[in-house]
This record gives sequence, structure tokens and C-alpha cells, in this order.
Amino acid sequence: MEMEKLVSLCKRRGFLFQSSEIYGGLNGFWDYGPLGVELKRNIKNAWWQDMVTGHDEMAISQGAPSTYEMTGLDCTIIMHPQVWKCSGHFDLFCDMMVDCRESKKRYRFDQLRGRWVEAKGKKVFVTTLAEAEEEDADLERRALKAFNLRAKDTAQLIWEGTVLSLDKVDSLEAVFAPEAKEIGTLTEPREFNLMFPTTIGALAGEEGRAFLRPETAQGIFVNFKNVIDSTRVKIPFGIAQVGKSFRNEITPRNFTFRSREFEQMEIEFFCHPDESRKWYEYWRDRRMKWYTNLGLAGDRLQLREHDKDELSHYSVGTADIEYAFPFLPDGEYGELEGIAHRGDFDLRSHMEGKLVKNAQGCLEVELGEDGKPKYRGSGRDLQYRDEVTNERFTPHVIEPSAGADRGALAFLCEAYTEDAAPDDKGQMQTRVVMKFHPRIAPIKAAVFPLVKKDGMPEVAQEIYRALKKRFPAFYDEKGAVGRRYRRQDEAGTPYCITVDGQSLTDQTVTIRDRDTLEQWRVKVDDVVEEIASRVS
Ligand code: GAP
Repeated sequence: MEMEKLVSLCKRRGFLFQSSEIYGGLNGFWDYGPLGVELKRNIKNAWWQDMVTGHDEMAISQGAPSTYEMTGLDCTIIMHPQVWKCSGHFDLFCDMMVDCRESKKRYRFDQLRGRWVEAKGKKVFVTTLAEAEEEDADLERRALKAFNLRAKDTAQLIWEGTVLSLDKVDSLEAVFAPEAKEIGTLTEPREFNLMFPTTIGALAGEEGRAFLRPETAQGIFVNFKNVIDSTRVKIPFGIAQVGKSFRNEITPRNFTFRSREFEQMEIEFFCHPDESRKWYEYWRDRRMKWYTNLGLAGDRLQLREHDKDELSHYSVGTADIEYAFPFLPDGEYGELEGIAHRGDFDLRSHMEGKLVKNAQGCLEVELGEDGKPKYRGSGRDLQYRDEVTNERFTPHVIEPSAGADRGALAFLCEAYTEDAAPDDKGQMQTRVVMKFHPRIAPIKAAVFPLVKKDGMPEVAQEIYRALKKRFPAFYDEKGAVGRRYRRQDEAGTPYCITVDGQSLTDQTVTIRDRDTLEQWRVKVDDVVEEIASRVS
């Protein structure tokens, strides 16, 4: 599927719009349109239903080591600045950035597709800069072939200034041919903190400085004690939160994939340290199944365990659920969700202060130049006491952290299908159909009177009103019925109900299945239950 087709459908049918589009848009910010808002809400509701409110009946059958409790939170976007100092975000939540000296364009260093290579005594950066993605992937392959390098070959990376944009790289000689255009020199890479700063109240300067949260997780950690004290919940248990996060991404790109404002669906699951590996494995597998159950099946979805050297210093295991988005080169996957074993890092950080790994590989409080903790923790006791055994311990945390927007984008990509369907004259035509799982489809059923007379609209409207009480439905009486079907196909509506001449005599209507195009008749009185049984 070509990404342009999906992007155009999203705008045409109202899934996604560029934010502030009438003023030229704002890079990295997206608005969900009338269909998009339903799609994303369905994804978030399915997550909350399956992970939080309705998890009990499924947990054991899905491999949970024991029963457990789940509860939720809705925390603020701006939190005490000390939260980010202790969590490590203030010092470490950075990307490497380079600027092009001539064009002043800014690039995330790891997004420069290309390699520094030494060839014929010259140090060149064979690049495929972010803007021309698809063509570039091919260029990079050819460039690497020309230099006889493997894609992962970093041994010859050399930092020096020249950037070459290559129109044709068929051979080594071509790199140095006059048509190899020099497009700029780059500054040294430097760190750029991704947190959006803001000011609280009238105080300018350090005193009033705060940040928009870059993840929802920290709100959960700092409320750990409040949740235990107010609910008497026992370990193992999880706290879930869905909400906006903000990251000042250097190069937002690939539609909504890397945005500056996005929504996360995060769980912090607290368990006994001895049980944590089993819970990590449970959550990793459980989250993977959630995506496949909602239709992201097949080889475009993969679960990738991180290598030991990829792990954060506090983690004993992390896995990513990844999707082969169509804008990525063949064989590359983009992250939908990370499931991380975070040990006791977070709770300890908020008790003791920012932690670092010492020479023995253990976590200890980072000290400032004065020998005191660099960033003081809350000093509050965030340990847990088991009422049965009396054991006191700092729980370990398993964190399944998903992006609602990346999920929505993957479901949109997966749903986009082109096939053939008959038009009003019975001629087969290419149709575009969004094959969403019925649970996340924005509209569950559309109702049409075949013609706008003979009492058909009245019957159709009555069915529409009955459906609307249960789930999002749509009524359409304009234009040829074939065109009305097409519009619903593009919206991803799983069922279309048509009131025709026969309906007026035998009180039956046709129901058309979006994917199979099969049509069957049901009694008007049975329509709501028939649709309900198929979309929930
Ligand atoms: N608390 C852990 C955490 O935030 P992360 O891997 O940085 O981990 C989790 O983010 C998820 O949030 C990602 O897997 C992705 O789905 C989503 N996400 C992160 N940055 C994003 C961005 N710039 N745009 C859209 N989604 C993003």
C-alpha cells in the first residue's frame, strides 16, 4: 500500500487533519476528524476494557501467573519539576541533533540515513536525508553496495563535515562524479532535551519553570502510595493511565508516527521481585495478543526482545511490539509499544533521588559536586508491606507502554485495502475499503432507504434511531445506493442496512457485509440484535 493513498483517504474522509491547517499547519501536530476521533476512542476504550475493567475473566486463561487487580488514574500533564529530575528525564531525555550549516535545517542524528565512509582517501557521508524517504532507501542500498558495506557496518563511520546527496550511485566512481551534489556541512552532534518547557504562574526563570510530561508513567509512580492507601489494593496489581504526552521531537515525521503531542496508554504493574520475570513474560505475550485479536495479525506485526546490550541499565528484559509500517524500508519495523521490566528503579528514584549505576552495576543515588544527592527524592516511604508475611520490599515494575496514535496509525495501515466490487450497473470497479475490526470501526452500521419515497426513508430512520441508542450509526439517503456503499466502505463501516420495496411488504431489510459483500435479509425487529452480536 502506498502511504500517500492512506494519507489522502484520512483527509478526504475525516480521519486525520493537520493541526491548524488553515494557517499552514504545525509540524508534528495532528487533529483527529469525525471518523478519526471515533477510531481512536474505540482503541482506547478497547484497551481500558481489556486491560483494566474487564481483565479478570481473561487474565488466567491468558497465562497470568495469578489473579491480580487493576485500577486507573488520570494525572496532570504538568507535574512538580522535581519529578523529572529524579526520574532522569531532566538530564537524560535527549536526542542527538545536528544542524546543516548552510541550510540551517535540523536533523536527528540517528535519522540521517547514510554512512560516513572512507573511500579513496576521502571521508564522505553517503546520505539519504530524511526528506526523500522512499527514493533514499534505494539510494542507500546502492551506495552501500558501491562501497561494499553491510547495512550494519559501522566500523568505517567517520565524523567529518561533508554531506553528499547522490543522484545516482551505481559505482564508487559515481560518488565522486561532478553530479554528486554537495548539499551542506553539519555541525557536531549535540544533545537536545525533548521535554517541552513551560512557565507556571507569573514567575519567569528557574523558579517558575516546569515541563509538559513526556510520558504518563511518572504520574503513576508518584501516586503509588496514594493508590495503595485509598484502595487497599494488594500486590500484584497494576495502575493504568491514558493521556497526552509531549515530546519536542527534532524531526517529527511519517504522518502521526513521530508527533510532538500524542497519547499514551500505560500500565505500571507492581509485583514482588521474585515474581517479576514471570509477570514480564505474561505482559509481553498478553499485549501482543491484544493487537492480533484486534486485527493486526500476520507478518507485519512482530514481537522483538531487546538484546542484553540494548536494555536500560535498570532493566532485566524489554520487548517491543513492532509493525512494518508502509513508510519504512522493506524489512524495517516501527515500535507500537514497549514492555519493560523496570525493576525498582522508579519507586526508588522517587524515594531516594536520581539513581545511577555504580562500578559494580548497582543503582545508587547520583551525587553532585558538593557530595550531596544531585537531585533529592521525595523522602517518602514507597515500600510495600505484605500483610500476611510482614515482608517489606520495594516492588518491581513491569511497564507495558503503548502509543494510542501509533496504534491508530497501524490499524489504519492494516485496514486499507483495494479490491473489486460491482457498481450500480453491475460492473466490477476497484473499491477502497477500510477493513477495521468491528470493535474499533468508527461507525458500526449505516442505514439506507433504497429510494427517497414510498415510505422507505421512514422505516430506515426508525431502524437508524434504534441502532444509534446502542452504537455509532449513520443514515444516508443521498445519491445512488452503490455510491453510498462506497462511502461506508471507505469509512470502514462493517454493515450496511438497506430498506427496499420488499421491506414494505414483509418487514425485512438487507444487511450487507463490508468485507465479503454478502447480503442477507433479516426482520426489521431483529436488526439491532443482529448487528450488536456482530460488532461487540
Ligand atoms: N514510559 C515509557 C515510555 O514512554 P517510550 O518507548 O518512550 O516509553 C512508549 O514510549 C510509546 O509511546 C511508544 O511505543 C510509542 O507508541 C509512543 N510514542 C513515543 N513517542 C512518540 C511520538 N513522538 N509520537 C507518537 N507516539 C510516540
